[in-house]
Amino acid sequence: ESTAQANIGVVGMAVMGSNLARNLASREGNTVAIFNRSFEKTQTVLDEHPEAEFIPASSYEEFAASLSKPRTAIIMVQAGRGTDAVIDALTSVFEPGDIIVDGGNALFTDTIRREKAVRETGINFVGTGISGGEEGALLGPSIMPGGSAEAYETLGPILSSIAAVVDGVPCVTHVGTDGAGHFVKMIHNGIEYADMQLIAEAYDLIRRGTGYSPAQIADVFTEWNKGELESYLIEITAEVLKQVDASTGTPLVDLILDQAGSKGTGVWTVQNALDLGIPVSGIAEAVFARSLSSKPAQRAAASALPGPAEPWGVDNNEAFIEDVRRALYASKIVAYSQGFDAIVAGAEQYGWDIKKGDIATIWRGGCIIRAQFLNRITEAYAEDPGLVALITAPYFTAAVTGAQESWRQVVAHAAKAGIPAPAFSSSLSYYDGLRADRLPAALVQGQRDFFGAHTYKRVDKEGTFHTLWSGDR
Ligand code: ATR
Repeated sequence: ESTAQANIGVVGMAVMGSNLARNLASREGNTVAIFNRSFEKTQTVLDEHPEAEFIPASSYEEFAASLSKPRTAIIMVQAGRGTDAVIDALTSVFEPGDIIVDGGNALFTDTIRREKAVRETGINFVGTGISGGEEGALLGPSIMPGGSAEAYETLGPILSSIAAVVDGVPCVTHVGTDGAGHFVKMIHNGIEYADMQLIAEAYDLIRRGTGYSPAQIADVFTEWNKGELESYLIEITAEVLKQVDASTGTPLVDLILDQAGSKGTGVWTVQNALDLGIPVSGIAEAVFARSLSSKPAQRAAASALPGPAEPWGVDNNEAFIEDVRRALYASKIVAYSQGFDAIVAGAEQYGWDIKKGDIATIWRGGCIIRAQFLNRITEAYAEDPGLVALITAPYFTAAVTGAQESWRQVVAHAAKAGIPAPAFSSSLSYYDGLRADRLPAALVQGQRDFFGAHTYKRVDKEGTFHTLWSGDR
């Protein structure tokens, strides 16, 4: 077709879509077609970014005609119904061999369904996780594509050209087939929830324990960001704590309503982990902590409940802050270990060949959980691809060995002082549960057999057993 001039198209000109389109247009060799359901957004993008030399389309037909074959289009619209509507429209104007990419935050089971349906038309469908927010979309996100290996041959180089780059390596890899990319993106977000909650608990403990101001605690985080905790989230935490409200002179964090919202990806992570039977307790506590914060009626009703009788303060601020830092690091290792367990279980359940080390590699840049630490995860899986639990890799074992006394101190302090630290304490319980010689699960099995004849196994002989319990029934 003589009108075909663009090698890639983007549908959806809201913030994420327009930033991704601008990112694509800024790379050598790309000509980008753009389309939005209503033309206003397309016009605004054209007006504001003439340098991008976008090829605008005002209908799906025109959009398809502007793309060279195989046509490749990235959808960046409202997840759910919006995505389905655009897929329907594109499949009617695209041809076999073309590629439709969904870059939105789709639930991976929707992606599996869509991939199957689109594949019947001969068109490729690639559900792709994209992390990094608005800035990542514009300057270089972490990209987690699923879909077929065949589609990735065409798509891979384009995605590599716009992804964040760390040590010369683009933050993109073919995660696995159909919904694998969106699954891994979901777990990424779950880990992000845990990471944020742990940082928030660290801040709260330091503030209440030492009486430091938010600005002083910002300095603590800035210091931490020079060491093993170096990460985007620690960096922005310092920025948030430093912010002063211009009109009142009060630290802004003290003026922000303490009710955390969410868009649901953390909930998805936990729901799926429950289905897969994977204890992602740190992530779950982070999700629940947001729910608890957002229950003003219950919180108001409970505000008269008693706390500890003894007032609390720490003797040595510096030593306490160091304990909190270590507790944070150990808890963070638990959160990632749990997240990777969920990836392994998902891969097994849905038949994906996911390379764990590659996932850690592409999370090093562009995304919200980007951190130094991810290099250690890549190394751990490189040394032992069959690693059964991340936390048992030599590097992480050494790290928690060094941190555990501090970790216990901090969790004990929190309990005695009446300061909620759900992610710190559940991570420690997970650690102690995992390393325990014997668990009281034996007693639970006894109870189950008692009331429901659910049977149990024994440590000393083969077989399945049921006891005629001598209880008062
Ligand atoms: P943001 O939160 O950044 O605004 P979003 O809500 O995820 O983004 O997505 C909004 C985009 O989805 C818009 O481009 C919107 O198109 P309009 O500008 O015409 O509203 C697009 N969108 C939502 N539902 C759609 C549908 N059914 N078909 C096509 N595009 C749709």
